Amino acid sequence: MKPDTFKDKKIIVGITGGIAAYKSCYLIRGLISRGADVKVIMTPSALQFITPLTLSALSGNEVIVNIFPDNQQNGTSAGTWHIEYGLWADLMIVAPATVNTIAKLSYGITDNALTTVASALRCPLIIAPAADMDMYNSPANMENLERLRKRDVFIVEGESGFLASGLTGPGRMAEVSKIIDAAETVLSGIGTDLTGKKILITAGPTFEDIDPVRFIGNRSSGKMGYQIAKAAFLRGAEITLISGPVNLPLYPEIKIQKVRSASEMQAAVKSNIKGKDILIMAAAVADYRPSEYASEKIKKEQKLKSITLVENDDILKSLKVKSTKIIGFALETENAVKNAFKKLDSKNLDMIILNIPDQAGSGFEFDTNKVTIIKKDKSQTEYEIQSKFQTANDILTEIKSLFL
Ligand code: CTP
Repeated sequence: MKPDTFKDKKIIVGITGGIAAYKSCYLIRGLISRGADVKVIMTPSALQFITPLTLSALSGNEVIVNIFPDNQQNGTSAGTWHIEYGLWADLMIVAPATVNTIAKLSYGITDNALTTVASALRCPLIIAPAADMDMYNSPANMENLERLRKRDVFIVEGESGFLASGLTGPGRMAEVSKIIDAAETVLSGIGTDLTGKKILITAGPTFEDIDPVRFIGNRSSGKMGYQIAKAAFLRGAEITLISGPVNLPLYPEIKIQKVRSASEMQAAVKSNIKGKDILIMAAAVADYRPSEYASEKIKKEQKLKSITLVENDDILKSLKVKSTKIIGFALETENAVKNAFKKLDSKNLDMIILNIPDQAGSGFEFDTNKVTIIKKDKSQTEYEIQSKFQTANDILTEIKSLFL
């Protein structure tokens, strides 16, 4: 099993004075539970929202607030602790980052412990801005964010939603899970390498209804397709996700179209494929549907003996595309590689991802997966068992190197 990307990673979490500071507790917990070593630096304003005691208990390390500590903090020498922090870290995350701190970072102002360390980093910096909508959207803040972006600071944009002021709009700090996904992307050495690319992804099962209460379905959880959508979004791609009937968390910026049956999925793929660079068909599409749909619930007394099935169209085979590269999945329980080769040819795919569900930690419902990527020239790369997010990034890296 491939180790967690966060294992033994040294991360500085910088917290500034915004109401979203309470979410930083969950961020620190999330990073620690994945195996990271976390040190926290707060701005003086952050003390208005959250206490160093809480953060020290969560991180297991002393929390730095003062730029000139009056006693030795964290075993560092008082004079150069900021340099030692900068050398120590594999990553710094400022979450929440206020408009004030964003401005200071963008101009290199170092008037507190947090901004001083941020200026002395040798590692990547992620910021998760948070502000009320008018402050967030102010021209100065937009310019400052742009300046940071150009300097390769990874910005996890604020989301639209209910704000502390009672207004609804952009500025809410991104969900902690998304900041952690961004941190994983950055720690993996991946940047926004898919910027401007348009990717259509399908995910989940399809359900073929028998009557208003029953259906024929399959065990696909949708997790693999959703993780590909999230990973590609963080790498800068424009994503359209067509999802079968599953309920999984997704970033609010990702366009999603929910479908139920194979024929609905087919129509959705057809109407969205134009102009896409890549189609990734991760969905487990039902091959058959009941020949008839009973509009009223079938009663036991009807003594139903059998259901007649008709074949659904093969979505991939039905596509007529010229410039879109097509990536399929193959779920096999026997003769896996041979069957995957067959599907690669018969469905005219550019790449196929083979998935064998009976291997420990691989397949349906798991958060981990073991895949083999097979290319058009029949070359294969087998990956170790790893998280579906890591798998997603490996698939995207292959796609990027071959087609984008
Ligand atoms: N697929 C599709 N349309 C279908 C069935 C499958 O486009 N009606 C796509 C899937 O999304 C996947 C690939 O084809 O990318 C392979 O799907 P899979 O279920 O493994 O193969 P099938 O073609 O259904 O063959 P079998 O069930 O016999 O293994």
